[in-house]
Amino acid sequence: MATILRPTIAEIRLSAVRKNLQKLKKAAAPARLLFVVKANAYGHGAVELARLAEREGLAYGFGVSSVEEGLALRAAGLKSPVLVLGSLYPFESFVEAINSDLMVTIASLDAARQVAEAARAAGRKAVCHVKLETGMGRIGARRPSVLKIYDELRAHEGVEIGGVYTHLSSADSDPDYTGAQLAIFSETAVELELRGARGLTLHAANSAATMNFPVSRLDMVRCGIAAYGGLSGFEPAMSLKTRIVFLKNVREGAYISYNKSFRADRAMKIATVPAGYGDGYIRRFSNKADVLIGGKRCRVLGNVTMDMTMVDVTAVKEAAVGSEAVLLGRQGAEEVTAEELAELAGTINYEIFTQVSARVPRVFVE
Ligand SMILES: Cc1ncc(COP(=O)(O)O)c(C=O)c1O
Repeated sequence: MATILRPTIAEIRLSAVRKNLQKLKKAAAPARLLFVVKANAYGHGAVELARLAEREGLAYGFGVSSVEEGLALRAAGLKSPVLVLGSLYPFESFVEAINSDLMVTIASLDAARQVAEAARAAGRKAVCHVKLETGMGRIGARRPSVLKIYDELRAHEGVEIGGVYTHLSSADSDPDYTGAQLAIFSETAVELELRGARGLTLHAANSAATMNFPVSRLDMVRCGIAAYGGLSGFEPAMSLKTRIVFLKNVREGAYISYNKSFRADRAMKIATVPAGYGDGYIRRFSNKADVLIGGKRCRVLGNVTMDMTMVDVTAVKEAAVGSEAVLLGRQGAEEVTAEELAELAGTINYEIFTQVSARVPRVFVE
């Protein structure tokens, strides 16, 4: 007998991810494409999507945020290059990374010394990408330190300097600032070349830069959001779907949800769907977001609760227990986009995707 499951799922369309990666790869060429699959591929399922990309040759390798995320890819059998984009701490984790053939980010002189030590201890080569701070203000060494880091790393036989990179803070919003960041980066790359550096992979571009700043593509681009369809011109891959589990008619004056957060101003038909903020359908959607049922937009009523949300289906004659409800994605001619939900919640589409919690099964479809 088939297992009966709660009907709340995140459906991931592989065809959309494939198309998006193909488009990025083509736009970036001859630069290589590093597919950023951190945070479980922005909630989309890192292992499955990395497998798709590796099987079909859609990316050179993968970007992750932590050693743990890299180890998960290796445990799943992925062989492509993996770059850990975060700053590693504790330094002992360099040994783990080196043993699993993960490339690491080096953003300080201290880390440079420690990675060299770890390579010696592991008896294997550590492939490092040096991170330059050009205006993001997160992790990265400023220009003078980068030169020192470079000198430190190249003094060790067990270390290979695979690349130098930076992260652009405003490629989606501020061309001048982006240009200034890229100028600092290029000047530093030239200085490194003057010191004899050859064959370094230079990289700076995220999705927005890849599409909007051809000069930023350099030797490699690092793209996440566009691959998931969260950038204009790309196809959204994720739908959040569930089914009505309870239906009722209420009289005028009835209160719905915690703290009487909605009061019916007329007789209404109300559906309950089994998805709430515990699934990543965040509470800021209360009384604001629309859910698609019967091909129509139906408003969320009252506070979203941890596991359930109430929806106005007065206008949907055919609504019944078991009817499909789309919280994110398309149904018929209607679509609820991640951008629309982000706007309602005062956030960005990245957060809408990554909030979809671990208890929501990812179902991969073509
Ligand atoms: C260092 C780094 N590179 C690349 C990316 C990918 O950015 P995007 O998803 O905007 O393409 C990220 C994501 O935040 C990042 O942190």
